[in-house]
Amino acid sequence: MSYIGIDLGTSEVKAVLTDDSSNVVASAGIALRVDRPHPHWSEQSPQDWWQATLDAVDAIRAAQPRAFARLRGIGLSGQMHGATLLDRGANVLRPAILWNDTRAYAECVELETLVPDSRAITGNLAMPGFTAPKLLWLSKYEPAVFASVQKVLLPKDYIAWRLTGEFVSEMSDASGTLWLDVGRRDWSDRMLEATGLTRENMPRLVEGSEPGAPLRDDLRREWGLHERVVVCGGAGDNAASAIGIGVAKTGDAFLSLGTSGVLFAATGRYAPNPAQAVHAFCHCVPGQWHQMSVILSAAASLQWLSRVLKTTVAELVEIAPAGEAATAPIFLPYLNGERTPHNAADAKGVFFGMTASHDAADLAYSVMEGVAFAMADGYAALQGAGTQLERASFIGGGSRSALWGRLCATALGFPLDLHEGSEVGAALGAGRLARLACSGEALDAVCVAPPVVERYEPSVPMRAMLDERLARYRRLYHALKDEFRASAI
Ligand code: XUL
Repeated sequence: MSYIGIDLGTSEVKAVLTDDSSNVVASAGIALRVDRPHPHWSEQSPQDWWQATLDAVDAIRAAQPRAFARLRGIGLSGQMHGATLLDRGANVLRPAILWNDTRAYAECVELETLVPDSRAITGNLAMPGFTAPKLLWLSKYEPAVFASVQKVLLPKDYIAWRLTGEFVSEMSDASGTLWLDVGRRDWSDRMLEATGLTRENMPRLVEGSEPGAPLRDDLRREWGLHERVVVCGGAGDNAASAIGIGVAKTGDAFLSLGTSGVLFAATGRYAPNPAQAVHAFCHCVPGQWHQMSVILSAAASLQWLSRVLKTTVAELVEIAPAGEAATAPIFLPYLNGERTPHNAADAKGVFFGMTASHDAADLAYSVMEGVAFAMADGYAALQGAGTQLERASFIGGGSRSALWGRLCATALGFPLDLHEGSEVGAALGAGRLARLACSGEALDAVCVAPPVVERYEPSVPMRAMLDERLARYRRLYHALKDEFRASAI
């Protein structure tokens, strides 16, 4: 049997074809574009997602036709929180509003006023990246579109609908909507009602490792497949990455430096800490939950700097000083506002302490260090929710930099492990979920950590310098937060 895992990311759709032991036999990536028509907006076309998905599947089919012919299951992973809006005829009503779109800031306050116990129901603070505030925004500023909304789908669930013709979601991604009662693993009628919606507007819920719906017959024929193919529930990209890297049980964790930066800790129980903007979500396997701290611009900060300096990320990583950097500026990586721990959509990026002697290499170092500091703040928030980590897996594009690995390990205070094949983590995790849904194997047999190829230890000499700079970084945020507010938008 073969399985496909598809990860609908923000910058690309990645697909892997695996055998029945989850070895990757083919992979493909198709780039996606993000539109930012106004400050704080971030949108994509669902049709582009679908086309990129078809192209990625075509590429792995062409690369491995015989393995593809044995396909039995498809798992989807995707960027979380996005609002994909469909009318009665299942037509897309407008571009999808993404996870890093912060236009619905005021609507978060409104939602928490409408449902005073929303944090108790959802386990989470209302943050503008989440889906429910986006719908409140829509009802105010695009009422005609809102009136036509029949289904609200998360990005990967839109792809599931195109693949199967059925509306199905699962617990991990649904946790990021603010419409889920995360402790009970069910939609909350009160949260839905507060945004003018009901269960009718939501997809059906399954667990991520359970079958969702069969692949449409016309697609199966077009792809030359003779057996039934099951699309499983799948997972939000972070939960899927966790399954791909073997993070399923309490004590297991990963740090991801992708477009966003995420510290993810599996928890055997539901353990919220909304006051510090910890994300307390269901895991994508039954009976498990997880916590996350999320920053909005991790590798995205270095991408931004490379655009400004008209160079490449690889060049910046190359030139950043690996040693003595105590005189580099301090960087606050809040280019898109911030989630954990500040929940401040109006926070901004800052270079502090620039002098005429600073150059591109210093700025590259500062950006990587600032992201490591933001992740250290995130870990402090998870510690406030009872989590203590001894190690974590290190994934995402940023994990290709040894300096970034050492900076993060030192700032967080525990080692980070780089695994073989981690660049396809979320897609691999989605493929593993499909395998679980089809084969009935035990989680432990499927969700194993790939071999560790490198370990980044906290650096003792770096620690003293970073401690001092981290303290300054924190003071700078507090000194500037009123200014951020005053210069909102
Ligand atoms: C998680 C989040 C991001 C996206 C990125 O809450 O918003 O990690 O899932 O794809």
